[in-house]
Amino acid sequence: MENTLERIYADAMEALASATDVDAVSDLSTQYLGRKGHITHYLRNISSLPVAERPQAGKRANEIKRSLEGEFKNTLTRLANVSKTATDRIDVSLPGRVPEKGSLHPITQITNHICNIFSQMGFDVVEGPEVETDYYNFEALNIPKNHPARDMQDTFYVSDNVVLRTHTSPTQPRVMEKQPPPVRIIAPGKVYRCDSDLTHTPMFHQVEGLLVDRHVSFADLKGTLTAFIHQMFDDQTTLRFRPSFFPFTEPSAEVDIRCVICRGKGCRVCSQTGWLEILGSGMVHPAVFENIGYDTNRYTGFAFGMGVERIAMLKYGIDDIRRYFDNDYRFLSQF
Ligand code: PHE
Repeated sequence: MENTLERIYADAMEALASATDVDAVSDLSTQYLGRKGHITHYLRNISSLPVAERPQAGKRANEIKRSLEGEFKNTLTRLANVSKTATDRIDVSLPGRVPEKGSLHPITQITNHICNIFSQMGFDVVEGPEVETDYYNFEALNIPKNHPARDMQDTFYVSDNVVLRTHTSPTQPRVMEKQPPPVRIIAPGKVYRCDSDLTHTPMFHQVEGLLVDRHVSFADLKGTLTAFIHQMFDDQTTLRFRPSFFPFTEPSAEVDIRCVICRGKGCRVCSQTGWLEILGSGMVHPAVFENIGYDTNRYTGFAFGMGVERIAMLKYGIDDIRRYFDNDYRFLSQF
């Protein structure tokens, strides 16, 4: 019977030695000293021992009980201190944690770059509302209701006469009705079209340009846009003006640049044509001048509109426009 007692004691000490956390020690304590624990059980059964053995067995059992209580307590304190120092310790020699530096979104950077180039040429930067009336978005720009050209742009309607602007061109009549010529403005901003795939997002950015004065000719348009593209890409970039149609310009032209990916040999990005379309432009249609009251015998002008994402994609070689709006830090931190 005494052997049993000593074995319980030895087992308890051994188990305690390999206990590595507070929970394990508490479990052991219950297992040995709890109401149904081994030591408690032993003490309760002392009366079943032969009378002569009882005093000695009782004494030894109580000694062991006190010893274990002490050991459990000490181990608990030691383990509690260890885990505390591990988590609370401050290593003053560690280098500080520097917060990550943010940067302007690539679209903002390209927009600023475009505006800077035109500012240097003397254009003023202006902005117009994104929620626009049907009048400025369409009618003032020679796109009457039911005109087939409205199909060119998939419009988000807010109500019958209010739309999310489908292009930045409504800034043209907005600026002209407030001031007489000469006008020389550039207007960046968000525009909206109901369209979404690899190369289209329902919201994207445009920069509009408008210049009105006496004797403005198509040659001025070509010279201005050529100078812009040479600054934006590089001065070896070849461009071409391709006849096109916009209701608010006449004549109209789209501007293509030699594919920046394949340098004109033909690739997937330029659909094997060697050319990439980057903007729409033309001479301001007399009907637009008449709508806002400019004298069409005295003044002429040119206008252009370009997609910022498009230009950013070409400059950075990005093939999926949606990347710009995923807000993926790994993508954004490259700019
Ligand atoms: N607003 C036209 C578009 O979004 C672009 C454009 C602007 C064309 C100015 C001519 C003149 O497609």
